[in-house]
Amino acid sequence: MRAVRIDVHGGPEVLTVREVDDPEPGAGEVLVRTVASSLNPVDWKTRARDMGPALPGTLGWDLAGIVVASPSPKFAVGDRVIAMSAQLATGLGTWAELVRLPERLLAHAPATLTLAQAATLPLAGTTAVQALAALRPRTRTRLLVTGAAGAVGGLAVQLARQADVAVDGLVSRPEHIEVVREFGASAVTHSVAELPAGAYDAVLDTAGVDVSSALADGGLYVSVSDEPLPDVPGAAKSYVQESSEDLEELVGLVDAGRLEVRVAAYYPVTEVRAAHERFEAGGLSGKVVLLF
Ligand SMILES: NC(=O)c1ccc[n+]([C@@H]2O[C@H](COP(=O)([O-])OP(=O)(O)OC[C@H]3O[C@@H](n4cnc5c(N)ncnc54)[C@H](OP(=O)(O)O)[C@@H]3O)[C@@H](O)[C@H]2O)c1
Repeated sequence: MRAVRIDVHGGPEVLTVREVDDPEPGAGEVLVRTVASSLNPVDWKTRARDMGPALPGTLGWDLAGIVVASPSPKFAVGDRVIAMSAQLATGLGTWAELVRLPERLLAHAPATLTLAQAATLPLAGTTAVQALAALRPRTRTRLLVTGAAGAVGGLAVQLARQADVAVDGLVSRPEHIEVVREFGASAVTHSVAELPAGAYDAVLDTAGVDVSSALADGGLYVSVSDEPLPDVPGAAKSYVQESSEDLEELVGLVDAGRLEVRVAAYYPVTEVRAAHERFEAGGLSGKVVLLF
């Protein structure tokens, strides 16, 4: 089978698509034929510098595909599935034509999306669900999401609105304001200086920008970014954990028409270097999808 492999860390030029041995599923593992994956910031960071997994290695966290072998009564051969693989911790990258994963990581794919669209959901969606859970927003909470046009931020805005939370957004550029309004945010700005001082009960930071001046006294501040936390009492990072329950929640919302995913560009896996370049250039409204 073909896989996207790196032998050394570096720019997009270190990405290679080449033949490797087919994976042998272990006990309790499902074998999936990959249809699509999507790019996440962790993919280029893992490509660019030593973050843990030994080289040579296969990158990729998101998976959408078809079951080809399964020990589980829950997943039959031919089922459409999605999964998030914590590649950084396990080395099990999803950018390969065949992927073996423990059954507990899989969920059935949304019926209302193509697998290419569904590939945008696992890592970004799971991160958004878990970061919001850490904030425990309730009806009447006023929440600010930074990076609100991004993959995690855009889903977090929509998920918070589903819980009747009032959400505002900070984006990087004026042309991203409208899409975040469409996700359900009220006030959306691209300027930190325009944020109301001390106004928010909760902040979800996905952009690594210090918006602590907008947090009310006693408010909760959670960040998923790599940047240091601001000096706010109780400020915390949220690190995504594999969870098929969270995937199932996301799938249910998508199929109920209550959660929207956006794709900015599709690339065949043979053009994975171009996909990385496009993604790292930023300014996207929607995810970059790799097609196998
Ligand atoms: N802790 C975890 O478990 C976890 C899990 C998933 C992701 N993450 C991290 O979370 C971050 C977001 O991930 P993602 O997948 O959502 O990335 P993304 O799709 O690239 O979204 C990031 C968004 O933030 C915007 N942005 C950048 N600087 C900004 C600023 N100063 N003010 C407002 N918006 C700004 C970007 O706009 P432009 O494109 O225009 O710059 C983009 O829309 C990444 O650092 C990623 O590594 C962490």
